Amino acid sequence: MRNDRPRILTGDTPTGRLHLGHWVGSLENRVALQDEYECFFLIANMHAFTTRADKPDDIRESTLEIVKDWLACGIDPERSTFVLQTEIPAIAELSWFLAMLLPFNRVMRNPTLKHELETKGLGDNYSFGFPMYTVGQCADILVFRPELVPVGEDQLAHIEPCREVARRFNQMYCGIDPQTDDADYVEQGGVFPIPEGKVGRVARLIGTDGVNKMSKSLNNAIFLSDSFKKIKKKMGGLYTGRSAMDEPGDINNALFDYVRAFIHDKERVAELERKYADGDNIGDGHIKVEVAEAIDQMLAPMRERRAAYEGKDGDDKILALLREHTQKANDAAEETLSMAKKAMKLDFGSRALSFN
Ligand code: TRP
Repeated sequence: MRNDRPRILTGDTPTGRLHLGHWVGSLENRVALQDEYECFFLIANMHAFTTRADKPDDIRESTLEIVKDWLACGIDPERSTFVLQTEIPAIAELSWFLAMLLPFNRVMRNPTLKHELETKGLGDNYSFGFPMYTVGQCADILVFRPELVPVGEDQLAHIEPCREVARRFNQMYCGIDPQTDDADYVEQGGVFPIPEGKVGRVARLIGTDGVNKMSKSLNNAIFLSDSFKKIKKKMGGLYTGRSAMDEPGDINNALFDYVRAFIHDKERVAELERKYADGDNIGDGHIKVEVAEAIDQMLAPMRERRAAYEGKDGDDKILALLREHTQKANDAAEETLSMAKKAMKLDFGSRALSFN
């Protein structure tokens, strides 16, 4: 595989299995971009500790689950590199340096961080490490010098500070003119490209409660590993407020978000929209089953690929894969860190990292 491809870095925090919101928001892009880009996919297991430091067993289990979900989705371990965050020391080191380039108040104003403080009920009792993850995320990204970061919409608020930090580093330590266009920083001699976030085709998939964004913690998620029976049941519970087949329906309701997201036959979508809007003898229940079938068709090959990683043998395969990939990820990360340290006049010698 060519190695001069531009890079992608993105990742997930291991908090549980991945769901349809992850798929349309980011996973689908990752799978599609594997050839065009050299891809690094990060398991943010260090970040998992920022809110669940007392749950090491859960975090370990979710770490393996995430990799299984990725493989199930079609991420190819021959083409893409998995990055186990806790085994990449360059990320932790770079986090320190970047922390100096990010104003504290800027971190605390981050809307995604604020939202998490509220929804996770952390109140005033969050740890010092919790807001640190925002700086850590800048390091996760920049240590791989990617050009693109495919993420769900909620993560864009983390990409922006990362871009600011990259510009600042390049200006401060590489003498780059602040007027430089984002696209030209590396060409001008900067260490870091200014990475761009890329949101998937559905920025914010609504959950099966029909109200909130799909999220594991809100109990409104269809997981990539769900069976047809479960999918049908969850879709069946989607509330639309419509009561009769001849009642004109609102094609901007949550059910039709699903229709447009998962039924790929455009003519059929148009037909459903027309019939629904006209109240032309079409029930919600029927549409829900049709959506469930479309979702199931998409997930079936994923379930099949996932089956190769069941049980203890499956876990062992994943662990072996992670070990193998960790060396590759460290090679790339160490290279960037040494470039950054050189720019900071911290080039006192060289070191080699080996992991096994
Ligand atoms: N914060 C992201 C999430 O919870 C996970 C993550 C950590 C990430 N580091 C990253 C995503 C770097 C993109 C790039 O989903």
